[in-house]
Amino acid sequence: MIIAIDGPSGAGKSTLGKMLAKEFGLLYLDTGAMYRAAALASVRAGAALDDEKAVIEAVDRSDIRLEGEPDSLKVLLDGQDVTTDIRTLDAAQAASIVSTISEVRSRMVELQRSIGEQDKKGCVLEGRDIGSVVFPNADIKFFLTAKPEARARRRFEEDRAKGRESTYEKTLAEINERDERDVSRDDSPLVIAEDAVVIDTSDLDLTEVFEQMLAKVRERQSEAAKV
Ligand code: DC
Repeated sequence: MIIAIDGPSGAGKSTLGKMLAKEFGLLYLDTGAMYRAAALASVRAGAALDDEKAVIEAVDRSDIRLEGEPDSLKVLLDGQDVTTDIRTLDAAQAASIVSTISEVRSRMVELQRSIGEQDKKGCVLEGRDIGSVVFPNADIKFFLTAKPEARARRRFEEDRAKGRESTYEKTLAEINERDERDVSRDDSPLVIAEDAVVIDTSDLDLTEVFEQMLAKVRERQSEAAKV
């Protein structure tokens, strides 16, 4: 079973993706983490992010892996654990820039498909183009969204809990900037797949969203069992 979860940043994709993966015993793939690692590979190679050729070369030379259980997923770049390094605001912005480059996307998509097909039971993948590009035949597609203010509030509180310094205003501005880049890029912009189940999480708590997603997955499983 392939479960695709797309949507803008801060809509709850990671938390809910991990919960679903655990519930159904599936692999979990955070594709945003891969773009973040690709961005870090470029920065470490000394490539200017607006130098497409240098970024593509750096990403081509890098070895990006994700290992471990959903709750303790480790991101390895050339064998080094970069799980924490890729969670900064700068890394998020850099990821959003390198993810506009088609060659970078095709390399990541190839990797995502091979990881997604690795386990017979299936995989939960979350990102921006999972249902539209990476796995257009996914068994179920979710599009999680929320008002920018709600997403910024959650992200800001998450950052604060983790001891990262920021302000609500800065977080909101950053979210708006990334949303704009994600929806307006030429290659695989953030779109709602035609057959996606759309859930606006602005006024829902985590349990409510999870229950809705569980119900949809179970519905789809029983439909598939009838065929
Ligand atoms: O989900 P995230 O915030 O960790 O993603 C970081 C950036 O990577 C995001 O701004 C857009 C990009 N991204 C993408 O283009 N396609 C994906 N499938 C996942 C992330």
